[in-house]
Amino acid sequence: MPDAESQDTAVLKRRIHIFVCTNSRPKGSSLPCCADRGGRELLATFQSEFARKGYPSGLKISGSTCLTTCQQGPTVVIYPEGIWYVGVTPGDASQIIEAHLTDGAPIQRLLAPDSVRIW
Ligand code: FES
Repeated sequence: MPDAESQDTAVLKRRIHIFVCTNSRPKGSSLPCCADRGGRELLATFQSEFARKGYPSGLKISGSTCLTTCQQGPTVVIYPEGIWYVGVTPGDASQIIEAHLTDGAPIQRLLAPDSVRIW
């Protein structure tokens, strides 16, 4: 029988946290922002899809401030894998849930290319 510490570790390993950038910038800013590109609608779509289908155990989804890939946003990051998706639309949320989170197959067309600077 596992001890309490190993049970806690197992729980931590199962935890999935999705960050969806909803950052906004003032008009006239030199950088684009995910809020202007549909980041808030994307977060709302994820939340409504999970509400409809049920939240997987250990999953948390949060809106976030800038994730630094502003030119390619909206940006979504999924931990603990550290998968970065860019250019994500509300129409992609269902595929990310089904293919990535359910089947374990990241969506290749949405992966941040190596040329994207994550700082
Ligand atoms: S504003 Fe979304 S990544 Fe910077």
